[in-house]
Amino acid sequence: MRLADKRILLGVSGGIAAYKSAELVRRLKDQGAEVRVVMTRSAKEFITPLTLQAVSGHPVADSLLDPAAEAGMGHIELAKWADLVLITPASANLMARLAAGMADELLTTLCLATPATVALAPAMNQQMFRNAATQANLDTLASRGILLWGPDSGSQACGDVGPGRMLDPLELVERCCQQLTAEPLLAGVKLLLTAGPTREALDPVRYISNHSSGKMGYAIARAAREAGAEVTLVSGPVALAAPQGVERVDVESALQMHKAVMSRIGDCDLFIGCAAVADYRPAQVASQKIKKTGDNDQMTLTLVKNPDIIAAVGALSDKPFTVGFAAETVDVEQYALDKLRRKRLDMIAANDVSRAGQGFNADDNALTVFWQGGQAALPLADKLTLARHLVALIARHYRP
Ligand code: PMT
Repeated sequence: MRLADKRILLGVSGGIAAYKSAELVRRLKDQGAEVRVVMTRSAKEFITPLTLQAVSGHPVADSLLDPAAEAGMGHIELAKWADLVLITPASANLMARLAAGMADELLTTLCLATPATVALAPAMNQQMFRNAATQANLDTLASRGILLWGPDSGSQACGDVGPGRMLDPLELVERCCQQLTAEPLLAGVKLLLTAGPTREALDPVRYISNHSSGKMGYAIARAAREAGAEVTLVSGPVALAAPQGVERVDVESALQMHKAVMSRIGDCDLFIGCAAVADYRPAQVASQKIKKTGDNDQMTLTLVKNPDIIAAVGALSDKPFTVGFAAETVDVEQYALDKLRRKRLDMIAANDVSRAGQGFNADDNALTVFWQGGQAALPLADKLTLARHLVALIARHYRP
C-alpha cells in the first residue's frame, strides 16, 4: 500500500491507449490510492465513463459547466484535492492545448487550477510524436515543471513502429509511488525568504525603487513549499499572489523588511535573500508632496545607507544556513564571490541582470551558484524550473 491516503486525479484524453486507464485505476487502488477520473470529450469515444466509474468507485467528471458537480466537488475543489494529476494517455492535441494554457474543458482547466504536480503519459502515432510542433509543446510543458513519463518505443496500434506507446500501467504506478512517497528534500525545514523590491519614500506620493517583480523569490517560495519546507515570505510590494501554503508578510521599505526579518530569524533554519533591497533611502521623507519650484532646474537628494539585511543575518552567532543573491551587470563571478565572503553567506546565486530576457521582471532567469569550494551553473529556464533546481542544490548542501 505505497500510495495509502494519496489522492490521484486521473485525466484521460482521446487515444487508443485510453482503454489501459481502467487497468491503471485498479493498480493505483491496489496501492491504496484514492482515484478520481476526469475524461475529455474525445476520451469517451474510446472508453465509457461507466467503466472508469465502476473501477474508481466515483462518478467520472467530464463537464466544466455541471451544476451537480459544482454543488458537490466543483472543478476548483477537484484541482485542490489532488496530490498528483496524471494524464493517461496524453494525446498530441491535449498537450498542444496545455502548452497554450487553454481552459476549454474540464481537464485542461484543472491543469491550470491545480497546485499539484502534473504528470503526462504521452501516447500517439510515432510520426505525430516526432513532429516539430509536438516536440516544441513537450519542451514548453517540461520547462513549466510538468513531468513527462514516457512514451515507450515499439509497435503501435496503427502498425507503425517507433516512439509513442504509452508506458505500461505498472510502470506508471511505480512512477506515482516514487513521485508521491519520496521524502521531500526540505521536509520540516523552516525557511525565511525575502522577495521583491523595496520602496524608499521621498514624500507621500513618490518613492525610489527598482524593477524587481518578485517572480524569482515567489518561485523559490513555491518550490521550497513543494519540497516540504515551512515557508515565510517577507515580500516587498509586488503584483503576485502568495503560493499556496506559504505565509506572507508584506513590507514596503528596507527598514520594514529588516525589522520583519530580524524579528523572525531566531525561528528559522534556512534564510534566502532574494529581495532587491534598496541600498540607500532618502535622508528626509517630506511630510507633504514636494513642490516643483519655478526657479530651480535641478534637485539634489541626500541618501543614507539602509541596513544590509542579509549581512545582519550572516553576522549572527547562531545564524541559519544563509543563501544570498547577487544581481550584477559586470564581473559577475568576482562580485558574487566577494559578497559570499563579506556577508558570511553559505551560498550565493548570481545572475547577470544585463542580459535581455532574464533577471529583473522577466519570466526566465539563469544562475551561477557559488559556495565554499564549489559552484554550479543553472542554465536559462523559466523561474519556477530554476527555483526547483536551486532548492534541490540548497538541499544537498544544507546543514542545520
Ligand atoms: O524579482 P524578479 O523580477 O524576479 O527578479 C529577480 C532578481 C533579479 C531581483 C533576483 O534574482 C536577485 O538577483 N535578487 C537580489 C537582488 C539584489 O539586490 O542583489 P544585490 O547584489 O544588490 O544584493 C546582494 C544580496 O544582499 C541579496 O541577497 C540581497 O537580497 C541582499 N541585500 C542587499 C542590500 C541590502 N540592503 N540588504 C540585503 O539583504
